[in-house]
Amino acid sequence: MTTDISQLTFRLPTEDDFPRVQYGLTHWWGGLGGDAGAQQRRLLVPRLFLQHFCLTSQVVEDGEGRLVAFLVGFLSQDRADEAYIHFVGVDPEWQGSGVGRAMYERFFAAVRTAGRTRVRCLTGPANRASVAYHRRLGFRVEPGALDFDGIPATPDYDGEGLPRVLFVKEL
Ligand SMILES: CC(C)(COP(=O)(O)OP(=O)(O)OC[C@H]1O[C@@H](n2cnc3c(N)ncnc32)[C@H](O)[C@@H]1OP(=O)(O)O)[C@@H](O)C(=O)NCCC(=O)NCCS
Repeated sequence: MTTDISQLTFRLPTEDDFPRVQYGLTHWWGGLGGDAGAQQRRLLVPRLFLQHFCLTSQVVEDGEGRLVAFLVGFLSQDRADEAYIHFVGVDPEWQGSGVGRAMYERFFAAVRTAGRTRVRCLTGPANRASVAYHRRLGFRVEPGALDFDGIPATPDYDGEGLPRVLFVKEL
């Protein structure tokens, strides 16, 4: 199959995309965290994101209308200069083809137009691919009290025993 991203369609999501986004959350992470990890990811992207955050989110479809990637992001309500990327996933068949970069660049352009100058996001320290990807996209990792093989992480960030690697990028 082709992995030429010029064949893909990038559009804003609608609520109808919810089941396919949930499928991606289940199957696109290479089994990270097993069934519990998949359930945790699905619960982190409930339907409300495809009801109330579509204007700053994206889905990507191939020529046959199959979902191959999604990005859920938003303009911060409380921090007038910031935007936030909550979740991103790319079908493994398309990973490494530039889809992630294309979605992020679209997001950066959209939030810059909305007056935002900083983007934040985070990941779990076990997701080394995500850390490498975000660094490559120009995010720096915030200092943290934990060290996971050279990656700083903030302990208990999302609750007890849930450290997170915190990314920030100035636009
Ligand atoms: C992480 C993810 C979103 C990246 O999207 P992608 O489409 O595969 O990434 P791209 O092909 O656009 O790569 C963009 C850049 O990051 C680099 N990169 C991507 N994955 C990388 C990895 N695992 N290690 C090192 N560099 C990586 C690429 O080399 C590329 O560099 P370049 O544009 O300067 O040549 C995607 O692989 C994915 O969905 N992974 C599984 C789910 C996940 O971990 N989501 C993020 C968790 S919050």
